[in-house]
Amino acid sequence: MIIDTHAHFDDKAFNEDRETLLAGLPEAGVELAVNIGANMSTSAATVALTEKYPHIYGAVGVHPSDTAELTDEKLQQLSAWCKKDKIIAVGEIGLDYYWDTPEREIQKKWFRAQLNLAFDENLPVVIHSRDAAADTMNILKEEARGDYRGIMHCFSYSPEIAAEVVKMGFYLGIGGVVTFANAKKLVEVVAQIPLERIVLETDCPYLAPVPYRGKRNSSLYLPLVVDKIAEIKGISKEEVERVTTANAREVYNI
Ligand code: NI
Repeated sequence: MIIDTHAHFDDKAFNEDRETLLAGLPEAGVELAVNIGANMSTSAATVALTEKYPHIYGAVGVHPSDTAELTDEKLQQLSAWCKKDKIIAVGEIGLDYYWDTPEREIQKKWFRAQLNLAFDENLPVVIHSRDAAADTMNILKEEARGDYRGIMHCFSYSPEIAAEVVKMGFYLGIGGVVTFANAKKLVEVVAQIPLERIVLETDCPYLAPVPYRGKRNSSLYLPLVVDKIAEIKGISKEEVERVTTANAREVYNI
């Protein structure tokens, strides 16, 4: 059985068949999926999904590109959601200099605030960092309270940065991108980082693995990611499933 550590089943791409798809996950070998909030409204939708489906857990948080909406009051609302049983992480939070909006000072302010929310709530963090490696590392170092518990989602940086974040306590979220023809750097990262530090994720509906690249993604395609990791590391699919599932349970404490 596998665990999808990062999904967005609240997305409208699932409006037609969400019920059937989610109900069918355990039968397809996906024992749990963690739905990730990206703003206040998708965090509320995440809470609702966790209340409806026994095998859906959730993270609440505001993605860097949506941090312009954050206020102290909304941070209080996130904190209230964090106290719910099936809300098991704060995320996705971080910095995104690819879209580069809102201005960087706003992104940084709320990244720091949400990191501290996670510490205060004793929850792990799910980090989104794109084209912002240096500032992300600096903020993580400045805000650290001991080792981190969390996932660097959709990891896109160098093997050197991978080694550094793993040393800080993070797991790397590996998904469909690793199957892409141009994923040379990520393949190197997966080869280098111990399996004990890797978790599976989809980021669905985005980033479907080959041969479904460009189509709607879902947790049902995770076996293609398992196959690729097994191939890179020269180990069995069963070992990839067993270890990444144990890792997901460990980082999310479920
Ligand atoms: Ni995501």
